[in-house]
This record gives sequence, structure tokens and C-alpha cells, in this order.
Amino acid sequence: MKAVISAVAHHVPEGVYDNVWFESKLDTTDEWITSRTGIKERHFAFEGGLTDILLPSAQKVLKQRGLKPEDIDIIIVATITGDRVFPSSAAILQRKLGAINAWGFDLAGACSGFLYALVTGAKFIESGAGKRVLVLGGDKMSSILNFEDRTTCVLFGDGGGAVLLEAGEDDSYGILDHILRMDGKGEAYLHQPAGGSLKPPTVESVLNREHYVYQEGQFVFKSAVKGMADVSFEIMERNNLKADDIAWLVPHQANLRIIDATAARMGLPHDKVMINIDRYGNTTAGTIPICISELHEMKKVKKGDYLVLSSFGAGYTWGSVLIRWSIDT
Ligand code: UT7
Repeated sequence: MKAVISAVAHHVPEGVYDNVWFESKLDTTDEWITSRTGIKERHFAFEGGLTDILLPSAQKVLKQRGLKPEDIDIIIVATITGDRVFPSSAAILQRKLGAINAWGFDLAGACSGFLYALVTGAKFIESGAGKRVLVLGGDKMSSILNFEDRTTCVLFGDGGGAVLLEAGEDDSYGILDHILRMDGKGEAYLHQPAGGSLKPPTVESVLNREHYVYQEGQFVFKSAVKGMADVSFEIMERNNLKADDIAWLVPHQANLRIIDATAARMGLPHDKVMINIDRYGNTTAGTIPICISELHEMKKVKKGDYLVLSSFGAGYTWGSVLIRWSIDT
């Protein structure tokens, strides 16, 4: 039995902040941000928490399938910016949604969080442990950005999305294959210095601005280009798929240059690569569900299409997932 995506939706907060907004605050330019990253604007929610961003997607997914909140068995939230350290955002979302029969948990896979969660959710379906699994990915990156650090704050945005996983009727559709990787040596180059049990919050940690994203961009860039391209190519090869067989590469949206390198390695033309980094920036665990949802909304993906999802992020964590789309358009 294979798990299929039976519904998908996304949501971003209303507030839009373009590159020019940063020009008045920092020593940066629209030209630098656009040419180095591909980002033109991003959404920030300076009020509310992650579950306020995710709740509309969860509700839309239920509506698409004509289900009630009590029909959900399991909720998995991929994020590194949950409403609180505890309880989980899955529990908070369960209450807000009224999903009284669901259990669930958060999963901290950073930019690869959604792929980790998708594969985990699929395993519950395949094993029969759950019939309807709600998998959400999203981040409120504005809550951990140092708006005085031009090397990081221009890169990220807030947003997320949700998919519903159910058992498919035909094993040639759904989540067909995955490659998930991790290398803890990446911690040195991308992390949040304080706020966890290693360095709990103190007046000093706040004054030193240690509760924000720390990134050595060039190191991460080099590993990301290789990591994302390798697993995307490998999943094609081992499933005997050629570039012509693939309808869409759906990459994590951290940097247009990383996306281009991945597509080139796969031999995919530009028009088969889902790109929305220009409008949302890097929403961490939110990028891939937002991309899938937009493809679906715009009717650019049809039943039977092969999609390769791929990501690279903090940990390091990275991976690729092969999906054969099963929703009729
Ligand atoms: O999703 C999580 C995984 N993260 C990633 O995949 C991110 C990977 N890394 C990257 O995308 C890129 O490394 C960045 C976009 C973060 C940076 O681009 P880069 O081409 O690697 O630039 P750089 O870090 O080498 O910086 C080049 C110059 C530096 O100035 P100097 O030292 O050459 O004088 C930076 O200080 O650009 C400067 N710079 C900026 N200038 C204007 C850095 N940020 C900015 C800025 N505006 N916002």
C-alpha cells in the first residue's frame, strides 16, 4: 500500500516586505539580494505564532476532502519555530482545529523538515497505523531573525502549508521513493546559538543577540549545491527516470543558484522547476508544501505526473522524495 497526497493547501501572512524595505534599515540593496538569492519579497507576521500561519492550510485541506476535524488520526508539524518550546505545535493545532481524535508531534528537520515529515507520515499510512495523516510544514522565521544582520535577515520569510495523506488504491501512485540524509557536522555553520538546553535564555544571551539564526552562508551554499543535486539525481537514476519523464522538480527555496545547479544536474529545463523564492524567500519547512500547493492551485500538475521534491538545510539535513501525483484536476 502506498500513501498518496489527497489534498494540499498553503497560507502566508498578509504583510509583504520587499527588498527595498531592507534598504532603509541595513547596508544592502535590492540588486544584491536579487542577484545573489533570487528573492524579491517575503511575508512576515509580526503578531501571532506558527499555528496561526498553519491553521488556515489545515482547514482548507479538510474542506477540499469534505472531511471533519475528527476524521484526522495523526498530525505531524515540521518546524523549528513552534509556538512554544512545549507543548508541541501539533497539540496546539489539534485544539485549534478541533481534531479530537488525533495524536501527533513536531519534527525538527529545519529546511528538510517537510520531507522528513512526509516520509514519516507515509510510513504510518503504509503500516496501517493511521488512515488520515495531516502533515504540515512551516516556519515563522521572523521570530528568530536578527534584523540587524544583513547576511541572514534578508533571506527568510514566514509561511507554510499542509498535505493530507491517505492510502492510495493503485500502488503506482503516491509517495514512491525517498532518500533522506543527515550530517551533524553542519551544526557549526547553521544554528541558533541560544534558547535550547545547551544555552538557556539569560539576560546576557538576549543582549548578545544569540536567539537568532547564525549562518556561515558560503559553507552552507557549497554543501547545499552538492547535497541537493546528488540526491535529486540519485532518486531519478534508481527509479529509471529520465529528465523527460519528470514533470516537476519541487526544490527547497533557499537560493535560486542552488535550485539552478540541482536542475542542471538532473538535466531539467527551467520550465520544469517550481520557483517562488522571488515572492516568499526561504520559509524553511514551508517552502515545499507552498510550492506543491501553488502547482496544484494553478492546475500545473496533473494525475500521473512524476514530481521530485528535494531539500537541504540545517543539521545538515537533506533529501529527495519521488511522488506520482494522484489528484484529478
Ligand atoms: O535553507 C537553509 C540552507 N541555507 C542555504 O541554503 C543558504 C546557502 N547560502 C547562500 O545562499 C549564500 O551563501 C548567501 C545568499 C547567504 C550569501 O551569498 P554569497 O554569494 O555566498 O555571499 P557571501 O556570503 O560570500 O558574501 C559576499 C559579500 C560579503 O562582503 P565582502 O566580505 O565580500 O565585502 C558580504 O558581507 O556580500 C556581503 N553581503 C551583503 N551585501 C549586501 C552579505 N549579505 C549582504 C546583503 N547585502 N544582504
